[in-house]
Amino acid sequence: MRLKDKVAVITGGARGIGEAYVRRYVQEGAKVVFGDLLDKEGAALAKTLGGNARYVRCDVTKAADVDALMDDAVTAFGGLDVCIANAGVVDSGSIMDVSEKTFDHVMAVNVKGPHLTCRAAAKRMIAAKKGGVIINISSTVAVLGEVGEGCYPLSKGAVTALTRTLAVELADHNIRVVAIGPGGTRTGMMADALPGTPRGKRIAMRTPLRRMAEPEEMAGVAVFLASSDASYITGQTIYVDGGRLVLNMIMPDKG
Ligand SMILES: NC(=O)c1ccc[n+]([C@@H]2O[C@H](COP(=O)([O-])OP(=O)(O)OC[C@H]3O[C@@H](n4cnc5c(N)ncnc54)[C@H](O)[C@@H]3O)[C@@H](O)[C@H]2O)c1
Repeated sequence: MRLKDKVAVITGGARGIGEAYVRRYVQEGAKVVFGDLLDKEGAALAKTLGGNARYVRCDVTKAADVDALMDDAVTAFGGLDVCIANAGVVDSGSIMDVSEKTFDHVMAVNVKGPHLTCRAAAKRMIAAKKGGVIINISSTVAVLGEVGEGCYPLSKGAVTALTRTLAVELADHNIRVVAIGPGGTRTGMMADALPGTPRGKRIAMRTPLRRMAEPEEMAGVAVFLASSDASYITGQTIYVDGGRLVLNMIMPDKG
């Protein structure tokens, strides 16, 4: 129960890694309000978690939706201690071919979304004068040269920069701002990367632990970062990547 009596807001929480954050935070004693566009999945998840989780439809590209999500947490659970800006979309193909429409959409969800989410959460934390923790979700592609993911890497680089900037700006309010940079994690977003598929094999070759992460492995880190055990960490992106960023070349053959 490392998050006992904490109130958390999580965006994009209806499935994938976001769902793992929601489930684990409730297990750890938090009360959680989560947003998404997937009403059916969101309502079903909230139902399985009883009175400790609420689903609210929230498009993170819309300031009014994000404000309403935060207000729901304050009204229903009496405050806001932790916020995870998790909602995101992927892109594919060459960065040379990204259309303006795709670029605007990816940046709206992955960059404007976290900006609106962090700002709305921070305003409520500042008003309550109790400090807080904001966790953004970046990616290893924020710092690697990655091909085939369109403009997605740019958007995650911006999240890492947002995290640093806000950490400095909000430090005097006792609000820590950190990020998780997942490596390849087994969700719908990575449906074409299962073990044995060409993309799955590439991930195994480039990852010392030779596998994708499970969503629960991100959730454990999100609990640590929100807890008092991480009280001196702010501004950092923690890469939860099976060793990918420290690997030079590719993994040697086992046999
Ligand atoms: N899976 C990976 O390998 C991986 C690696 C690095 C980073 N990430 C990041 O982790 C986060 C979660 O990814 P995932 O793998 O669980 O993907 P996912 O597609 O399973 O989940 C993303 C969630 O965000 C929601 N969403 C999309 N647009 C939204 C919007 N405008 N408003 C609100 N919600 C919206 C989706 O409905 C979905 O529930 C994302 O930010 C992603 O970029 C994932």
